[in-house]
Amino acid sequence: MAVSPVVFVPRGEDVVLPCSFTHPRQQHYSGRVTLKRLAREPNALPFLACSVRNESMEGKRGCAESELKYSMYGDLRRRELSLLIRRVQLGDNGTFFCRVELHGLGQYIQRETQLYVTVQPQILNVSVVEPGSDGAPRRLQCEVEGQPLPNVTWLSASGTPMQDLEVKNQQSGPARLLSSVPYLQEVLSCRAESRLGVAERRHPAAHRGHVGAQLVVRLVVFTLLAALLVTGTSVLIRR
Ligand SMILES: *[C@@H]1O[C@H](CO)[C@@H](O)[C@H](O)[C@H]1NC(C)=O
Repeated sequence: MAVSPVVFVPRGEDVVLPCSFTHPRQQHYSGRVTLKRLAREPNALPFLACSVRNESMEGKRGCAESELKYSMYGDLRRRELSLLIRRVQLGDNGTFFCRVELHGLGQYIQRETQLYVTVQPQILNVSVVEPGSDGAPRRLQCEVEGQPLPNVTWLSASGTPMQDLEVKNQQSGPARLLSSVPYLQEVLSCRAESRLGVAERRHPAAHRGHVGAQLVVRLVVFTLLAALLVTGTSVLIRR
């Protein structure tokens, strides 16, 4: 039996976990072929099962196509047992088993695939946490998401990373991390980085100043172009 031992997929995409097999009597095998798909434990109850007799290669592929999250991908009679998972979520992360049973050949064969769902680092929010009743200092808190879990660094306005001692990190979900630092009105940036990329957000958010400047530049260019057009046309008309 051939499977991919590890499959990586970005969250939200569809993925195929390949699985196929060969057996000694496959030239003349006309018996029943049963596919079972299991997750997490090698002896779990199958979440998908289907079965077909290998009498003729014509007609249906054996197992009905479905629009459900899990469906089989390939033709059992051609010894294809791949699994299609639609719109993968973090909860799909883990071990999947591919099992085939041939009627009359006794034992089943089973192999496993690790599905690894990835999420690009992103910053979900940055907020100020006011001191509690315990009088703890005010902190700036950043919630990040990513799989693998990103590394969080805090940068001052000049881009210098803050001391690790001041940073508190705490996992807040399967792929989420809350990071915080003591905060006194200054400008700070929260930066989340993993092998998949980088995300950064500044607090307070950047001034809109440069947007205004861009608008002025566009207006000037537009006016110049209009002026050129008008003079160009009047020159042509005079001729
Ligand atoms: C089903 O039969 C075809 C030939 O008729 C053969 O090529 C194929 O390997 C058989 N499938 C299985 C699962 O043995």
